[in-house]
Amino acid sequence: MKKIFVLFGTRQKEGNTAKFVKKITERLDKEKFSVDYYYPQDYKIEPCVGCAKCFTQTKCMSNDDLMMLQEKILESDVFIIASPVYLHYFTADLKLVLEKCSWWAHTLRLQGKPVVVLSTCDTNGHKTVIKPLSNIMTYMGGNVIACANAAMLPNQLNNEGWMEEVSEEIASRICKYADIPHQSNADIEKLFPYIKKAALHQKEYLEKYNIDIEFGEYNYWCNTEMLKYESFEEYLKEKYKYEEVVV
Ligand SMILES: Cc1cc2nc3c(=O)[nH]c(=O)nc-3n(C[C@H](O)[C@H](O)[C@H](O)COP(=O)(O)O)c2cc1C
Repeated sequence: MKKIFVLFGTRQKEGNTAKFVKKITERLDKEKFSVDYYYPQDYKIEPCVGCAKCFTQTKCMSNDDLMMLQEKILESDVFIIASPVYLHYFTADLKLVLEKCSWWAHTLRLQGKPVVVLSTCDTNGHKTVIKPLSNIMTYMGGNVIACANAAMLPNQLNNEGWMEEVSEEIASRICKYADIPHQSNADIEKLFPYIKKAALHQKEYLEKYNIDIEFGEYNYWCNTEMLKYESFEEYLKEKYKYEEVVV
């Protein structure tokens, strides 16, 4: 069974974003895919206090449901992240979860997992949702396989033809990527050397100033052995032991 995890930025379980996501997930074979939906009211996340310990300890110190959410995301085969547009951005509920996963953006923690980025809006502001969310997913090592916004105007949300076409395309990409080993892409490759350098810099900095704390991010790079590779693609190929996959 392949696992899909959906993280919603909306609290409207019968709203537009849920409708858009379900148009896609309902196309997936129930024998093959299990889908978990999480809305902000289903879990408790404390605000980030800015202690920055997550960067060195690769774990948030607050006593909330973050770890449970992180595990659900990490154990999924395909991750769907979906938010309504609120004031030209994704919602504060979603921002809070992502802020508290900030160290993932220094460690490619999603490790090539296929990610679908979705939003809904009335009329505008979706570009400043889709673009930053996709960038964040890429920094986290997610392989963004599809992005889409559904608007009220122009009529997409209530346009059966549009919804069918878009949901069919996204569902087929989910099926394809769920079946193959995790992949890199050109955007992650561009970032790889810089994020790697930053991890090395963390160790140098902490040693230089004799700061006696864990080198969490650096250790993650060592323990996964990503540090040994010049590219994320090479690393993933070795990790999942595959030759060439035509996508
Ligand atoms: C606080 C708030 C801010 C919003 N800001 C925008 C906006 O900037 N642009 C837009 O087109 N729609 C905006 N909307 C409309 C929602 O994005 C839109 O109705 C969305 O589809 C709602 O999704 P939901 O039913 O899943 O919550 C806003 C709605 C709310 C409640």
